[in-house]
Amino acid sequence: MIHPLILTLENTLLNEKNIRIAIYRGDLEHEKAPGNKWHKLKFNLEAAKVQGAKQLISFGGPYSNHLHALGNIALSFDITPIAIVRGELQPKLTPTLRDFVKAGGVLWPSKRIDYKAGMDSEFVANLKNYYPDAYWVPEGGSNSLGVQGCCDWAQEIDAQTKTLGEFNTWVVSAGTGATSAGFLAYEKIEKNNSPDILVFPALKGGEGLLNDIRRFALTQNPNTDIERLKIIGDYHHGGYAKLPQGLKDYIEKLHSLNPGLQLDPVYTAKVVYGLEQEIVKGNLDNKNLLLIHTGGLQGWSGYQ
Ligand SMILES: Cc1ncc(COP(=O)(O)O)c(C=O)c1O
Repeated sequence: MIHPLILTLENTLLNEKNIRIAIYRGDLEHEKAPGNKWHKLKFNLEAAKVQGAKQLISFGGPYSNHLHALGNIALSFDITPIAIVRGELQPKLTPTLRDFVKAGGVLWPSKRIDYKAGMDSEFVANLKNYYPDAYWVPEGGSNSLGVQGCCDWAQEIDAQTKTLGEFNTWVVSAGTGATSAGFLAYEKIEKNNSPDILVFPALKGGEGLLNDIRRFALTQNPNTDIERLKIIGDYHHGGYAKLPQGLKDYIEKLHSLNPGLQLDPVYTAKVVYGLEQEIVKGNLDNKNLLLIHTGGLQGWSGYQ
């Protein structure tokens, strides 16, 4: 579903700057794996089935949207979800991890130093012996099959824009950059009409994602016009999972203007906030913007 987005800015300002903005409601897709989650996981789950894997093992923090979605859908593929969780497990599990276990998932807490080492840690080597037939997916579902799923998703979204006129810029959040890479790799048949992809990273230092996103996109589609990618790294609000009062107030204000719409605190709220600031600065004049809601609403369980 795509609908107009009402910003906190005056309409007269938007008219003066000739800006139009709509939102694609990825958060309303796929009840169990909303937003980008299903798209990053679907080809991985299929590949796990083809490989005959009994388990799918992935990584995430205690409030991870990715783990939450994985827990929700893996069993319907007859695959047991296994999570390597960053840091110690608290005696009282987070709501995200509680759901994961309730869905039949298994948790392995991992010391931060091991977690950082990813697939190279001794901890992972031991788990590989313990689960010799498992299928492994990196944090966030961000591998080439995840990018492929997001590239297909871009095509689905584009098909829905047909009756609404051209959006020359798609706007999306980034953690690892796999989702935006899939969008970038998607090109319309009339190649020159493919939208620019404007990325607002949720993490500090997100400008550094530029080369990762380009590389991911080129692996998916070697003809990708990588100049269509723009990253604005100024709106991380202190870093991943930080929710300062100003951003919280902004989320509430936007919700009151768009009662059917809730932004998530980690990813999409920073995108819309940043977008408004960039509009005011005059950096988005004459753009027809399509904001992609990538879901993540379960992430609110980490905040009061
Ligand atoms: C809700 C939400 N939006 C955006 C992202 C960023 O996606 P990516 O890591 O593919 O850049 C994530 C993380 O996967 C997410 O959970």
